[in-house]
Amino acid sequence: MVAAYTRTQIRLHWIVFALIALQYLLHEPIARAWDMLQSGVTPGFSPLIAAHVLGGLLVLLFVPWRIALRRLHGVAPPPAGEPPLLQRLAKATHAALYLLMVLMPLSGAAAWFGGIAPAAEAHEAMRLILLALIALHAAGAVYHRFVLKSDVMARMLPPRG
Ligand code: HEM
Ligand code: HEM
Repeated sequence: MVAAYTRTQIRLHWIVFALIALQYLLHEPIARAWDMLQSGVTPGFSPLIAAHVLGGLLVLLFVPWRIALRRLHGVAPPPAGEPPLLQRLAKATHAALYLLMVLMPLSGAAAWFGGIAPAAEAHEAMRLILLALIALHAAGAVYHRFVLKSDVMARMLPPRG
């Protein structure tokens, strides 16, 4: 175990955060294009649709890189005094976030490139699960910052100096 995340781990964390935020903000054009495809109409090219597809595939591409960094460099240990239940919850949330960072792009790609309707349904359902996990995860960070007053938030922020 190490005391801190590397600069690359921190950058990747926030780049992926921005990419996922964009996926939610830019969901409408691809959802509309999918509905058109379902009714037999081929949608024209749209940069917003391309951004959803490419942004989502980038999230997928970054997963093995992030996991390799975790293996090579390690992750910061749970902060001293964190209740064991919260430690387990944080670990499980991180694992579930990784799982969804794989399943969301795969189901999206299966729908978009393979025309598989159940994959689109799974994609749509999982968007809510991912959103709930992000909310729980962010709430955990805020709880650490303001209630437990630990260094957990600081270690995912760029090092100063
Ligand atoms: C982390 C990655 C991704 C996230 C968070 C995400 C999120 C979303 C969201 C929020 C919607 C709107 C659902 C709705 O309003 O009905 C959506 C729709 C869609 N996305 Fe993604 N997406 C991701 C990756 C991808 C990728 C890589 C592709 C294609 C290669 C893709 C293809 C689609 C398609 C075809 C739809 C319309 C069908 C549906 O509504 O499920 N997505 N996505
Ligand atoms: C798309 C949204 C997000 C995803 C998918 C995500 C994912 C992750 C993952 C997988 C980790 C474990 C470390 C790693 O493997 O890199 C982590 C750590 C962390 N994240 Fe996020 N995160 C997101 C958003 C946020 C937000 C909005 C905040 C702050 C409000 C935040 C704060 C943190 C902190 C402080 C850590 C370090 C936790 C620790 O060391 O135990 N994350 N995040």
